[in-house]
Amino acid sequence: MKYTAKAAISALALTVAGVAHAEPQAEVLHWWTAGGEAKAVAVLQEEFSENGGTWTDMPVAGGGGDAAMTALRARVLSGNAPTAVQLKGPAIQEWYEEGVLADISSVAEAEGWADVLPAQIAEHMKCEGSWCAAPVNVHRVDWIWANKSVLDANGIEMPTTWDEFNAAAEKLKAAGVIPLAHGGQSWQDATVFETVVLGLGGPEFFQKALVDLDQDALTSDTMVKVFDEMRILRGYVDDNFSGRDWNLATAMVMNGEAAFQIMGDWAKGEFLAAGKVPGEDFLCAATPGEGYLYNVDSFAMFDVDGDDKKAGQELLAKLIVGPNFQKVFNLNKGSIPVRTDVSLDEFDDCAVKSSEDMKASAENGSLLPSYAHGMALRGAQSGAITDVVTAHFNSDMSSEDAVKMLADAVANSM
Ligand code: GAL
Repeated sequence: MKYTAKAAISALALTVAGVAHAEPQAEVLHWWTAGGEAKAVAVLQEEFSENGGTWTDMPVAGGGGDAAMTALRARVLSGNAPTAVQLKGPAIQEWYEEGVLADISSVAEAEGWADVLPAQIAEHMKCEGSWCAAPVNVHRVDWIWANKSVLDANGIEMPTTWDEFNAAAEKLKAAGVIPLAHGGQSWQDATVFETVVLGLGGPEFFQKALVDLDQDALTSDTMVKVFDEMRILRGYVDDNFSGRDWNLATAMVMNGEAAFQIMGDWAKGEFLAAGKVPGEDFLCAATPGEGYLYNVDSFAMFDVDGDDKKAGQELLAKLIVGPNFQKVFNLNKGSIPVRTDVSLDEFDDCAVKSSEDMKASAENGSLLPSYAHGMALRGAQSGAITDVVTAHFNSDMSSEDAVKMLADAVANSM
């Protein structure tokens, strides 16, 4: 008895020493491969190795992360999950329900995450009360980016209503400029669509239609008007838009081939990586209307064996929410820190606007999760909506038919 207890104690001591001395390892699955994205993820990679970690990169190209999520499923199904995965919104809880996520509450508690994260965002990081993801940033989705000299040359101000946007686009088209740089990939169509839903319908309508999936909102006249505007916008993109990557669309605005892009502020990361200066080379404005669509990037840790991997997960989670990483990463990524205690002194005016608008919208109830970036709905529902949005954008489907199809697709996905 005595001997067994002693053996058990030394075995325990060995394990503790093993974890403490394990060299942190992490295989990290993410989709940050464009210019600004790659610069930003390199910041995490560097901090991880400076702290003794060994990083194995698993980038899966494809904006919005659809390809990365397909790769993730294949890895998990083959019983070989990556250590850490860029995962966000309700997909975190969906994976948790499959029983494959690690609990990172000990790090969250030791680092006091509850005190430095906005409550609405912290909720996304929890699974049945425990912490199951580490938040990286807040991206705003409802932005318009513009080439300043193209607007100046055509006597155009940043539009503040959708009618103004349309009028500016007509003028640009007549002047031989592509009004709207767009990449015809379904997630980009969805990105534009949700800004129009917010702009034309307002925050309450957005909540009803794209968060609560209320059938009355989905079949309303407002939704018909949203599809009408999508049809108008379709007329402002160039002939080669199909399949184009979002960062190539951003490049069209940078080089003056196109005037505007409607895209989240990862596009700003792309402008900055190319040495462009906000307010001088390019302009940012919220898409017309009220409210704020947030898209929070985060990492979830998968349940893996090995003390080195577990040590890697702990180190990564700690660094991600750490104040230094939050600053440097987000300066590169175009987003703002998710921590409320990081100074924005070194950030540009677009970031300051994002932060101020986020606070104001949290106070008046118009801070809303992006459906297009997986913050509002589970995969089946958001996929059903996006299929209709894309089908409409790429055909001559009427707005009335699109609305009918949308309501049916949502009902069938429940
Ligand atoms: C978003 C993601 C961003 C950005 C973008 C384009 O869904 O949250 O971090 O990188 O996709 O890839």
